[in-house]
Amino acid sequence: MKIITVFGTRPEAIKMCPLVLEIKKHKEFQCVVCLTAQHRDMLDQVMKIFGIEADYDLNLMKKNQTLADITSSVMTGLEPILQLEKPDIVLVHGDTTTSYAAAMTSFYHRIPVGHVEAGLRTGNIYSPFPEEMNRVITDKISEYHFAPTYLNERNLMKEGICSNVYVTGNTIIDSFEYTVKNDYVFHNEQISRIDFNNKRVILVTAHRRENWGQPLINICKAIETLAEQFGDVEFVYPVHLNPIVKDTVYGVLENIDNVTLTEPVDVMDMHNMIARCYMVMTDSGGLQEEAPHFGKPVLVLRTETERPEAVEAGTVRVIGIEERRIVEEAENLIVNTGEYNAMA
Ligand code: UD1
Ligand code: UDP
Repeated sequence: MKIITVFGTRPEAIKMCPLVLEIKKHKEFQCVVCLTAQHRDMLDQVMKIFGIEADYDLNLMKKNQTLADITSSVMTGLEPILQLEKPDIVLVHGDTTTSYAAAMTSFYHRIPVGHVEAGLRTGNIYSPFPEEMNRVITDKISEYHFAPTYLNERNLMKEGICSNVYVTGNTIIDSFEYTVKNDYVFHNEQISRIDFNNKRVILVTAHRRENWGQPLINICKAIETLAEQFGDVEFVYPVHLNPIVKDTVYGVLENIDNVTLTEPVDVMDMHNMIARCYMVMTDSGGLQEEAPHFGKPVLVLRTETERPEAVEAGTVRVIGIEERRIVEEAENLIVNTGEYNAMA
């Protein structure tokens, strides 16, 4: 069976690389890796860590690319590869524009699609935008659905998708086998200077399109207030390379003693940092899955989540995008050990 895996952003790569390595172990499969490179630097960081060479690389990223740029470049770039390779199945991951456009292109060629991380939903097509619609369409197109949880399976059933649904868990958990180590030494120089044993470190990330503009300013101002209030706590924020995100974050948070802004860190640094930090504040999807695995509380800087399992389990709290609420919720976990321990 010839399987083409198509992915292009950092989070897809982190969750697809363990699967690619596993597929490659089985002689009955031929595994072809096609990168769209919707992300360039942030994708290459991941491929290097997992030691996977791509068979095809569409190299499509442009500065300030639009959603239509990505969609059209994936479609026209992938089409000749599908025509040449004639795979038995195309595997895509999650909810990015790469995933949706690759699934749609495969459909145009009547090639069955397998969707890894199927069935996540918020129910609001504008949040996360455009990811919610990307995953709805990808699930509709797909022949095989690999749902991380039983809740995801139920979401699919509600939409009439009842066959070829497999509840698999999430491949992010498999990735830790490659990345997390007890005696780890950080690659990033700024992070290697932080004393995780004696200092409480709060890991922050935010990049989502719905948060661009005022919400991201609110988030950064809240971090600024918290950093002033709690001088003994270190805030570490690896900043996404999108210029829209970078400009806002550096605009508010540059030059604060206990706020470390870094370039995106590689996935080994990131996973080992999650394993050693005090808690996480984020609008990322992936971090909501990773941090609970290590017993780290997560404050979600969004108004909803497609991962309510961890909210139910009590390790994740969705706190919105208002400055005051963000400060209050974080304060609570910094000063109130009982609350912190309950969440952890
Ligand atoms: C994309 C996904 C989002 C995912 C995020 C993970 C879509 C619509 N969005 O959003 O679901 O959460 O990736 O990070 O698919 N850039 C670089 N170098 C890089 C990566 C990005 O310079 O290695 C800059 C470029 O200017 C690029 C911009 O970031 O144009 C935006 O990248 P894009 O993939 O369009 O959007 P993300 O916000 O990263
Ligand atoms: N990540 C990383 N380096 C960073 C920031 C994040 O390796 O500087 C990892 C993180 O551990 C997670 C994934 O990237 O596995 C999440 O990516 P992102 O937040 O960009 O996307 P999302 O999950 O929200 O789609």
